[in-house]
Amino acid sequence: MQIRPFHETDTDALYGVGLRTGDSGADASAQFRDPKLLGHVFVGPYLALEPELAFVLASPAGPIGYALGALDTLRFEQRCELLWWPPLRTAYPDPSLRDGWTGRSAASPDDEMAYLIHHPHATPAEVVQRFPSHLHIDLLPAGQGQGYGRRMIETLLAALATAGSTGVHLAVATENTRAIEFYRRLGFEDLLVRPTSLLMGKPLPAGT
Ligand SMILES: CC(C)(COP(=O)(O)OP(=O)(O)OC[C@H]1O[C@@H](n2cnc3c(N)ncnc32)[C@H](O)[C@@H]1OP(=O)(O)O)[C@@H](O)C(=O)NCCC(=O)NCCS
Repeated sequence: MQIRPFHETDTDALYGVGLRTGDSGADASAQFRDPKLLGHVFVGPYLALEPELAFVLASPAGPIGYALGALDTLRFEQRCELLWWPPLRTAYPDPSLRDGWTGRSAASPDDEMAYLIHHPHATPAEVVQRFPSHLHIDLLPAGQGQGYGRRMIETLLAALATAGSTGVHLAVATENTRAIEFYRRLGFEDLLVRPTSLLMGKPLPAGT
């Protein structure tokens, strides 16, 4: 297996990795009617807007993992508003405007993703101030537990530091205890506990 930069032709496979690890690390395929929706929120914008910070774990059969980064989270969120969300907002109407909407807690996974397309998370200012970059990493089971996660994070953090970042944060589902222990092992500290997720951060060499 090989860790390599992202190529545009990886896009569909990486959407598939996102879906197959999208339930707190487990396969979310059976939960979605539209198999692209989760990738539109958590994978596509990084590939489209920051492809130089996207790294792929490739097996001989094709991509089985990714590490994705955004150098400047505030700028990334602004560029998503301008470039990424508008066509998706046309394709996927806001479910909260529909008759019968009873709130996010009762929403189907498809509706939750459509909701996020219209109401994306804004990262708290105190987090982006200390940890301006953010990342996502997901490996299919065939790539897990062999040191590739560590190597992919190290590859991405080196690229972020070279690009001038002073710190990186991430959000992880509170029930994904395996990933939380992985991040702690790699030196991430707990920053903020939200109802269903934990924000973690790590300073980068220029910021330590
Ligand atoms: C979480 C994930 C990225 C970790 O990658 P990985 O390749 O399995 O982890 P590695 O084998 O590189 O482990 C790196 C280090 O973390 C440690 N580690 C990993 N999981 C751990 C756990 N549950 N508890 C304690 N330590 C753990 C390893 O022992 C290893 O330590 P070392 O390098 O100091 O020897 C990967 O398992 C994955 O993609 N899981 C499914 C999707 C997911 O949950 N993504 C995160 C969403 S926020």
